Amino acid sequence: MLKLSEEMFDKLTYYVRANYGINLETKCTLVEGRLSQPALARGYRDLDEYVKAVFDDQTGVEMISVVNRITTNHTFFMREPEHFKFLANVIMPYIESSVEDKDMRIWCAGCSTGQEAYSLAMTINDYFGHRKGGWDTTILATDINTEALQTAKEAIYPPDALQGLTEERLDRYFIKLPNGSYRVCGSLRSEVCFKRFNLMEPIVYKKPFDLISCRNVTIYFDTATKDALIERFYDCTKKGGYLFIGHAENVSRNSRYGYVQPATYRK
Ligand SMILES: C[S@@+](CC[C@H](N)C(=O)[O-])C[C@H]1O[C@@H](n2cnc3c(N)ncnc32)[C@H](O)[C@@H]1O
Repeated sequence: MLKLSEEMFDKLTYYVRANYGINLETKCTLVEGRLSQPALARGYRDLDEYVKAVFDDQTGVEMISVVNRITTNHTFFMREPEHFKFLANVIMPYIESSVEDKDMRIWCAGCSTGQEAYSLAMTINDYFGHRKGGWDTTILATDINTEALQTAKEAIYPPDALQGLTEERLDRYFIKLPNGSYRVCGSLRSEVCFKRFNLMEPIVYKKPFDLISCRNVTIYFDTATKDALIERFYDCTKKGGYLFIGHAENVSRNSRYGYVQPATYRK
């Protein structure tokens, strides 16, 4: 594994924290581990030289590649299942009875390789069943990692990635490919719109959201950055709308969101 000088590590972590919110101050070994391979692949034997070239690259392409390496993208279908039960049993009936124009707005922020967004889409489809006609249930799903987003759009997963799913959902929403992998069916894929978006940037939205699900993303942020993001989420949540966070995360006591149950908040 290649080594970074303290000076270059500080420069990189400062930049990543200021621009992406991710705090890597205590993660020197992780950063060196994740950047060694792309550095070697580009012919660098010195990690400082590689990182310097990343900063010098005016196109920004090399920094995107670094961000792809240093983000943690672990995710799986139906992760933290309490949220999907709550969505089916509480949020969906509320939306169905209160959203008059049948245009529901859901944002999966920090969607990684797509499993969370497709889990939300499956839950919504199962809830509506044949009452879905006329509803626009498109989910906005965003992340900064361009490789994760590519996987999310392709929606092809190996069999061991499907463990959280029932046979019924596997039959209904997936197509088995000749190589044994599974692909999310076209109709479910068309109900999720994946986009690159950095959560540190101003949130631009057409209509406020009925639900924002931002789970296991802010664990890498420091408290002030996380609290500020949650208040920006609040500003674009519809009155009566919900926020999901990861069960290992927290919302500040000073937040304007009201507590509903663990990892679930409401405006
Ligand atoms: C551990 S994954 C969580 C995936 C999914 N939400 C879940 O709970 O299973 C965290 C994701 O947050 C994304 N992320 C981190 N910082 C981000 C930022 N500033 N803007 C957008 N996405 C970010 C990472 O790229 C990564 O895909």
